[in-house]
Amino acid sequence: MTLEEKLGQLTQLVPDQPEFAPALEKGLVGSILNSGGVEQVNQMQRGLKVPLLVGYDVIHGYRTIFPIPLAIASSWDPQLAELSAGVAAKEARAAGIHWTFAPMVDIARDARWGRIAEGAGEDPVLGSAMAAAYVRGFQSNGVLACAKHYAAYGAAEAGRDYNTVEISERTLREIYLPPFRSAVDAGVATLMSAFESLNGVPASANHHLLTDILRKEWKFKGFVVGDWEAVAELIHHGIAASNQEAAKKAITAGVDMDMRDNSYSTLAAAVRKGELSPAVVDRAVRRVLRIKDQAGLLDHPTSNESDALSLDRDAARRVAQRSMVLLKNDNDLLPLPKSGRKIAVVGPLADSKHDMLGPWSAQGKAEECVTVREVIRDSVAVDDADVIIAVLGETREMSGEAASRASIDLPGDQEKFLESLVATGKPVVLVVMSGRPLAISWAAAHVPAIVQAWFLGTESGHALADVLFGDVNPSGKLPVTIPRATGQVPIYYNHLPTGRPPDPKDKYTSKYLDTEIGPLYPFGFGLTYTKFEYSDIRVTPQAASATIKNAGNREGEEIVQMYIGDPVASVSRPVKELKGFQRVALQPGESKRVEFTITRHDLEFWSDHGWIAEPGEFKVWIGPSSASGLEGTFQLH
Ligand code: NOJ
Repeated sequence: MTLEEKLGQLTQLVPDQPEFAPALEKGLVGSILNSGGVEQVNQMQRGLKVPLLVGYDVIHGYRTIFPIPLAIASSWDPQLAELSAGVAAKEARAAGIHWTFAPMVDIARDARWGRIAEGAGEDPVLGSAMAAAYVRGFQSNGVLACAKHYAAYGAAEAGRDYNTVEISERTLREIYLPPFRSAVDAGVATLMSAFESLNGVPASANHHLLTDILRKEWKFKGFVVGDWEAVAELIHHGIAASNQEAAKKAITAGVDMDMRDNSYSTLAAAVRKGELSPAVVDRAVRRVLRIKDQAGLLDHPTSNESDALSLDRDAARRVAQRSMVLLKNDNDLLPLPKSGRKIAVVGPLADSKHDMLGPWSAQGKAEECVTVREVIRDSVAVDDADVIIAVLGETREMSGEAASRASIDLPGDQEKFLESLVATGKPVVLVVMSGRPLAISWAAAHVPAIVQAWFLGTESGHALADVLFGDVNPSGKLPVTIPRATGQVPIYYNHLPTGRPPDPKDKYTSKYLDTEIGPLYPFGFGLTYTKFEYSDIRVTPQAASATIKNAGNREGEEIVQMYIGDPVASVSRPVKELKGFQRVALQPGESKRVEFTITRHDLEFWSDHGWIAEPGEFKVWIGPSSASGLEGTFQLH
């Protein structure tokens, strides 16, 4: 290969940009992003020395749209993530796509950030389980995965997209990196380097992240693609004066492929002038070719031009049923009886097919989505109703990339509308559709039943009706904290203790003057139509267990959570951290002993000397959320 051809392998372009056609003709493109379908891709592949790798954002479905990743995380069921990724991969592969820019594994603690919708929420253990599951789902069904955005993109200051990140090495290691590590251990083929600057060094030129940690510590063998024009943006970040300087910094730090901006074409001159070692280019090319080979592309450059697959509505519905969280259900208002009650289904999201798709919907078609109003066909007007279902929340454009909000309240006049519904005196069920937790304090105080539905995809309406009428017992739990007010964010359960823990009776403690202490709904919280009782916790340094009983009168599933805390250490440790979870299905009256293993790593924290566990007392909680549960202790010697 010539030097130019090698750099071509490191260049990803979009077919509709002007540089694309001439570059393709000369064999100077290695990958494309977004394609016009399998026939067009096959045509491009013919005659190329090295086939193109075709990438696309297949985030929560290709044509069959699944719930958004934040919703799937609410199921706490990695198998559902894997199932959804598998269906998406098969559909995408049939359309000639080899590579998806997913999973997005960024931890997010600030709901203003619109991209919280694309990930698994605020917790590294839940996030790691989901990350590995998506990787398996995509890659065992013929599509390469890409864990993004490496790293700590979710910690954007003030929740503003693309913004600066300043966090300690400990927070980086303990909170933001574990899902990436998990994706790497699951065999992810690629990673995407992020837009933001991390402690002053842009992630897309960050040797510490891309080489020291990713390559040397984690032994990652795949390749890294820079996010869209992130290489050229090193100029805006103020660490390069030209595209060539930006490209040199990025490739040297460990960005192997450059997305969209064609900056790597400037590297030929740098190599010839002796400013960049040809070995750096060869290293990146080898990584890209190895993955192309792994994908089978070198032997089979073209894809079958078979018919597109039909929608997998069953899978979409099954996943959606488990992706909702029941937040409130006073006097068992839900489930609603299937007959004998006149129901009004109202609100801007009751019948909006377009919004059901959520952000990042690939080739999903609004007309193929089912809304809840379509399913509850005999909806009446509010005046005639016995019960009102209000479907409120965000449009799909309000979350995802470049969709940060300064206020996470219900948008526009929706709260006033809700107040008017409650003022009728009729029972109101609030269904919240959103790409982020919303600060619904008024609703939590005045509405008897609330379902957090996020965006549920193609089968939204059916899945919602399944839960509202009790064919499915809701079992989801929050993967993120729901704040009382925007001003509380960032708010997350695994925070450090303060010297002055909040005390409503003591002014000089850590709290706000104008908002109650703590979240509206804590991480891990979610109700069901039955009742679970926890008893008899037993704890050793190697294991913890408790008995869970279904004390209600219908079958149900409980997500049992184990948290660990290290109350006295050489550095302040989070008040508690999730270390394990299990979904258990129980018949009425049935109980089960749920056991968790505790590993050495569960007790460790990041120190100047790497991971260490310090002897002393540890606390363990087993319970239904981060805010309640049975407590036990053990000594580590
Ligand atoms: C920019 C986004 O940050 C990234 O997540 C996405 O994969 C690329 N654009 C490609 O669309």
